[in-house]
Amino acid sequence: MRFHEFSNGDRMPLLGLGTWKSARGDVGEAVYAALALGYRHLDCAAIYGNEEEIGAALRRAFDEGVVSREELWVTSKLWCNRHREEDVELGARASIEALGVEYLDLYLVHWPVAVRFDVVGPSGPEDFLSLDEVPLEETWAGMTAALELGLTRHIGVSNYSLERLRSHAQLASPPEVIQVELHPYLQQRALVEGSQALGVLPTAYSPLGSMDRPEAMKSEDEPLLLEDEAVAAIAAEQGASPAQVLIAWAIQRGTAVIPKSVNPGRLAENLAAAQVTLTGAQLERLAGLDRHFRFVTGAFWERAGGPYPVAELWGE
Ligand code: A2P
Repeated sequence: MRFHEFSNGDRMPLLGLGTWKSARGDVGEAVYAALALGYRHLDCAAIYGNEEEIGAALRRAFDEGVVSREELWVTSKLWCNRHREEDVELGARASIEALGVEYLDLYLVHWPVAVRFDVVGPSGPEDFLSLDEVPLEETWAGMTAALELGLTRHIGVSNYSLERLRSHAQLASPPEVIQVELHPYLQQRALVEGSQALGVLPTAYSPLGSMDRPEAMKSEDEPLLLEDEAVAAIAAEQGASPAQVLIAWAIQRGTAVIPKSVNPGRLAENLAAAQVTLTGAQLERLAGLDRHFRFVTGAFWERAGGPYPVAELWGE
């Protein structure tokens, strides 16, 4: 397993388990099975609505000696309704309590979008707070305070553009991780290399194309990443599966990667991708697949008259 080493010496396994879309009723067994298989990095978020069940699975794994807290990397994310400086601590403490851990290893600002305190998913434009009302710098001050309180050992951002990340690089305790959608159809080389140049680790979400996301988030005629012909051909050459090729590609780029599964066989398959080494020719072939295709467009933030048009979200 490859690790990313932070400046304080902490080491994060590059391959982790994603838990977005892992339903309550399934997620606990999946997390426990993953830990028993050897996963040591869990990617969670308050908005996934499953942190309590993950917490119960963690408790079981700790009690049974499957893994210790110190051996495990736990990430969670601040939801958009806790962006005010004084509310960030509430968000962090709620995830810590649900997960039943004393601290997080990494806490991320989930989206560069703010909504009102009592809103989870916005209905209309009145549910949002603009970035003039709650600037991301204010949210970052709250994140820095959470770090200083010891609620988390590292802080970072998610779904930020490189430009936004750069603006944060000047602030006290700059982000150490940026989590964004990354896979061969959305390679984002400028973002990945620009982040790495700042000393910020990119983490790849939706590495397998997230085909289990809600129908409302899908478009017609989406490309099927796991069925891509080039990926399949490389998988055949490697004696590996397409998912393993996609995961190995992310690790060989030096990014962290968090494939989601609730299926024991696929959990094992995905973890074994850490043993796959792609050749230079295979990497070149995968580099040629880029088509700037987003599976997670962020269109769900856009409302007529609202402050978050998609065109401005990604800075593209
Ligand atoms: P499941 O949870 O039933 O295994 P992403 O990580 O990009 O969000 O993708 C998650 C989706 O990919 C889920 O539908 C998950 O289903 C599926 N998946 C996870 N691992 C594999 C695999 N090794 N092969 C095929 N599909 C997979």
